[in-house]
Amino acid sequence: MTKINFGGVSENVVMREEFPLEKAREVLKNETIAVIGYGVQGPAQALNLRDNGFNVIVGQRKPSKSWDKAVKDGWKPGKTLFEVEEAAKKGTVISYLLSDAGQIASWPTVKKHLTAGKALYFSHGFGITFLKETGIIPPKNIDVILVAPKGAGRTVRKHFLEGRGINSSYAIFQDSTGHAKDRVLAIGIGSGYLFETTFKNEVYSDLTGERGVLMGAIAGIMEAQYNLFRKKGHSPSEAFNETVEEATQSLIPLISENGMDWMFANCSTTAQRGALDWKGEFRKAVEPVFEKLYRSVASGKEARKVIKANSKPNYREKLGNELKMMRESEMWKTGAKVRELRPEKIK
Ligand SMILES: NC(=O)c1ccc[n+]([C@@H]2O[C@H](COP(=O)([O-])OP(=O)(O)OC[C@H]3O[C@@H](n4cnc5c(N)ncnc54)[C@H](OP(=O)(O)O)[C@@H]3O)[C@@H](O)[C@H]2O)c1
Repeated sequence: MTKINFGGVSENVVMREEFPLEKAREVLKNETIAVIGYGVQGPAQALNLRDNGFNVIVGQRKPSKSWDKAVKDGWKPGKTLFEVEEAAKKGTVISYLLSDAGQIASWPTVKKHLTAGKALYFSHGFGITFLKETGIIPPKNIDVILVAPKGAGRTVRKHFLEGRGINSSYAIFQDSTGHAKDRVLAIGIGSGYLFETTFKNEVYSDLTGERGVLMGAIAGIMEAQYNLFRKKGHSPSEAFNETVEEATQSLIPLISENGMDWMFANCSTTAQRGALDWKGEFRKAVEPVFEKLYRSVASGKEARKVIKANSKPNYREKLGNELKMMRESEMWKTGAKVRELRPEKIK
């Protein structure tokens, strides 16, 4: 554990070199990690752990596209790929990577196999934090741990293949064996750095973040600006380039490289003056929305909405239809065209 100063606040973090792969292999050498769920996060973590030499099996319901995907990725039915119940029975670390609604539906099946000394692992604090809504109450004689990668499943795998990592948070809800800490750090192997959290803080920040700046807010604010430009007579090309393309291609990478001030410093002084003046205005406008959002998360309202919607048998179709509407809007059709026209795409 290293204490690191983040802008004047000291935090406990675990750096990669503090918990090397050999140590993780030693900790998990007698364990079978059963990755339950082969959606987005399941494949990334299962493949990374397998490639790192751990004993991994996959549990996935069938028939389903996710099962077929697992077979395509080299998991062998009856050997390393099983139905959920069989995998839960065989695993000593149960990596519960079903969708949040799937975790609720499969809980009675999985719970039966959570015998003394096993570990129940999550990548999200949802199931445990909103236990009134989910009914996920683990037995006392197991470890309950969490590693939540701060990125999409695709990035978790992509960064692994590139020899990089992705930052993750970790938490221990229950340490029954006395080894929960080693287990959680071993399974979090390959992360960039690991920072400590609780199940509750993980889920509150995660649900707020994805509804906020990471996805919901960015989509909303981009739509608002694009629509304004169109209403005022600007062409789709101008509206899209000035709203999305310049952000993703030029400015966001600069923020990633060296911070917001550095991105500002690399724009014209006219842009800097205006952006500094308007930043506060935008912040004030959205602060109440963020307050409302956090309240909705903390009260369990967001959890109830998600559970209700994503427990329906056609939940994927419904999400797919809404994404299709987005894809087929003028703004995002323009985006597709703009991407096609990127110089590197034109031979
Ligand atoms: N997605 C990410 O990038 C990401 C990032 C960080 C943390 N996480 C966390 O990782 C966990 C898994 O997330 P995910 O995005 O990988 O989930 P997902 O893609 O939504 O998960 C789908 C998985 O759950 C199964 N499933 C859904 N409903 C089910 C049901 N009623 N009964 C049995 N199985 C069911 C699916 O099987 P079928 O295909 O057969 O429906 C599939 O295996 C979540 O706790 C999530 O919060 C995800």
